[in-house]
Amino acid sequence: MRASQIISAVLATTTTGVLAATSGTFDVLTINVAGLPAIFNSNDVPGDKATNARTIGAYFSEYGYDIINMQEDFNYHAYIYETDAHPFRTPTSGGAAIGSGLNTVANFDWINFSRTKWNTCSNDSGADCLTPKGFTFMRVNVDDGVWVDVYNLHTDAGTAAGDLTARNSNLQQVADYIDTWSKGNAVLVFGDTNSRYTRTSDQIRVFSTQNGMTDPWVQLVRGGVVPTTETICANPSTTNYCETVDKVFYRGSPVVNLAATEFSYESSKFLQADGNILSDHNPIRVNFNWSLSNKFRQSNYWGGPHGTWFTDLPTLSGKSGSLKTSKITFRGGSRLDSVGLTLADGTALRTEELAARPLL
Ligand SMILES: *[C@@H]1O[C@H](CO)[C@@H](O)[C@H](O)[C@H]1NC(C)=O
Ligand SMILES: *[C@@H]1O[C@H](CO)[C@@H](O)[C@H](O)[C@H]1NC(C)=O
Ligand SMILES: *[C@@H]1O[C@H](CO)[C@@H](O)[C@H](O)[C@H]1NC(C)=O
Repeated sequence: MRASQIISAVLATTTTGVLAATSGTFDVLTINVAGLPAIFNSNDVPGDKATNARTIGAYFSEYGYDIINMQEDFNYHAYIYETDAHPFRTPTSGGAAIGSGLNTVANFDWINFSRTKWNTCSNDSGADCLTPKGFTFMRVNVDDGVWVDVYNLHTDAGTAAGDLTARNSNLQQVADYIDTWSKGNAVLVFGDTNSRYTRTSDQIRVFSTQNGMTDPWVQLVRGGVVPTTETICANPSTTNYCETVDKVFYRGSPVVNLAATEFSYESSKFLQADGNILSDHNPIRVNFNWSLSNKFRQSNYWGGPHGTWFTDLPTLSGKSGSLKTSKITFRGGSRLDSVGLTLADGTALRTEELAARPLL
C-alpha cells in the first residue's frame, strides 16, 4: 500500500482490474426551469408550462449534457423527467411551498446526495421564505478514481435590504460547507446565485477568495477580469459577454486536475417550436477537461455513514520529496477505531472516529 492511497474520508482501497482512463472531458449545464405554478408565476415565459417542461426534458436527452443542475423544478417536474433520459436523477423534493426546486440529472452516478436549507431567507421581495430553498451536495463519480463534489444552489432573490442580507448569508453558507465537507476535493458549484459581481454586498467572490474556485465565464470570456459594470443579457442571449445571475464555479484537487475549456449561453438551443423561450433564464453550459495527477490516486469510497469528513490530501500534496510509508497502525477491539500511517520522514497521519464497523 502506498501512502498516497490513504487520503479519503474512509479508507482508500487499492484499485484493481483494467487500466482506467487518466484524462477525459465532460460538460455541465445549469438551468432555471421556471417551474413555479403557472397561476402563481408565469416566469414571463409564454406557452403551456407542462408542454414547455416536456420540451426542456427532451433537449436534456438530445444534447446529453453530463451533469445538469436545475432550479425552480417545482410543479412540472414529472414532465421534464417524462422526456429526459439521463440514467441518474434525483427524486423531487416536492412542488412549490414544499420542495427546494433543486434537482440534478447526470450521466454519472454519485454518492452522499443531501439537501440543505438556507439558514436565512427574506420575504422582502419575492416571498423566498415560502418554499425551503437551499443547496444540494453530491459526490459525483465522473470516471474510475475521478470524484467531484457537485453543488446546486438557488439563493434568495431580489435586491431589497433583507434580500441582500439573506443572499450574502446563503452564499457564505455554501462556502463554509465546502470548507468542511469538500476539503481537499475537486468541486463544482453551479446554479442560480441571483447575484452579479456588481451586487457587491452579495460577495459572490467568496467562492474564489475562500474556496479557491474559478468562474469559467470570468476566466474564458472576460480574460480573467471581474466586471465592475453591469452587462445584462437578453434572452435568448446572442453573446457570451453579458452577465447572468446563473453561475458556475470550479476547482480541481491534488488528485484531479480540472480545466474549463468552453463557456456558452445555451438559450438558442432551448426554444419552443414557435421560437419562444422556455425559461426566463439563459441556461449555461461549461465544458471541462479532467486529468489525473501523476502523484496521487483515489479509490472509491466505502465505510459507514458516521464520523466526520477528513482528508490527508492537503498535507500529503504539500510535502516535497518521498511519501514512503514506514508504519501502518490499527487500533480497535471488537470494532476498528483508528487507522494510522507514518511516513518515512516521521509525519504521522491518523484517522479518528472511524465508522463503527466490525473487524472481519
Ligand atoms: C415569510 O412569509 C411567510 C408567509 O407569510 C411566513 O410564513 C414566514 O414566516 C415569513 N418569513 C420571514 C422570515 O419573514
Ligand atoms: C483540453 O484537452 C485537450 C485534449 O487533450 C487539449 O488539446 C486542450 O489543450 C485542453 N485544454 C485545456 C484548457 O486544458
Ligand atoms: C457516503 O457514501 C458512501 C458510499 O456509498 C457510504 O458508505 C457512506 O456511508 C456515505 N456517507 C454518508 C455520510 O452518508
